[in-house]
Amino acid sequence: MLTEELRAEVARLKRERGAVVLAHYYVPTEVQELADHVGDSFALASLAATLPASTLVFAGVRFMAESAKLLSPDKTVLMPDASADCPMAHMVRRETVDAAREKYGDDLAVACYVNSTAEVKSWSDVCVTSSNAVRIVSALPQRNVLFIPDRHLGRYVAGQVAEKNVILNDGFCPIHQAISADEVRALRDSLSGAPVLAHPECGPEVMELADVAGSTSQIVEAAAAGEARDYIVLTVDGVRGELERRCAGMGKRFHFPPTRPVCPDMERITAEGVAACLREGSGEVGLPPEEVAVPARAALARMLELGASR
Ligand code: 13P
Ligand code: SF4
Repeated sequence: MLTEELRAEVARLKRERGAVVLAHYYVPTEVQELADHVGDSFALASLAATLPASTLVFAGVRFMAESAKLLSPDKTVLMPDASADCPMAHMVRRETVDAAREKYGDDLAVACYVNSTAEVKSWSDVCVTSSNAVRIVSALPQRNVLFIPDRHLGRYVAGQVAEKNVILNDGFCPIHQAISADEVRALRDSLSGAPVLAHPECGPEVMELADVAGSTSQIVEAAAAGEARDYIVLTVDGVRGELERRCAGMGKRFHFPPTRPVCPDMERITAEGVAACLREGSGEVGLPPEEVAVPARAALARMLELGASR
């Protein structure tokens, strides 16, 4: 629980360590309250690369903290719970990448969703997030693009860039994939006219019902800019905190699917966990071996170059 004492202790420890706390929109609200910056994956990766702080506490899952370390190898990166991992990050096999490279040669680019391990990134030419995947894939010089690991984001991108041959892998986010088109239709019927804002990790039948598809930040922006009073939000419930902050005083209401989407790995991050890693310097994220770190960093750096504007 976030007490005033804990809040004061975290503020003191941050000053003493020269630390900055970065939090993803999906972590519990009490953790977001302790953060210096709250954002989507792309915003947090950009901040990790540019912030002058010597220590970053990454309140998110492992691939996010690992990306921060790759982009800022001289910084100390701490995770409040080092076991918080995204299952999708592991859902691609090296053979899939090798087979595509063998088949298409130089006319293939491997585009890797940041929700992936450092090793998976090291097999890739460029990273993307849900906020910039369409733009980056369409800017690639190759016609053939192997999109890993997420089949749903890959399919969504393929639909937006008809000029490319996007080859899909079979990874997925279990939380977004579990949102069903039937529950979305039922919500829409009970809230006539409410725009459907969906994260492109949702399955294809759900995406067909979406009025807006985008990253967590883009969903928040769409709700803040929209004229409607009710919004159907198809992503992890943690984003509710930012929706309420951004739309405070506007009288807007946000409706999530009844089978409340929660990411169990993001839920592992607690206020006490943030305090403990600042106190003890625990949960430090190391660099992978050079043969992984160098190409993985290059794929991330290329994303930051190509995806600079959201
Ligand atoms: P964003 O890139 O939209 O922040 O999403 C990250 C994520 O893990 C989605 O499940
Ligand atoms: Fe991974 Fe899904 Fe959790 Fe995002 S919501 S971190 S994709 S498991």
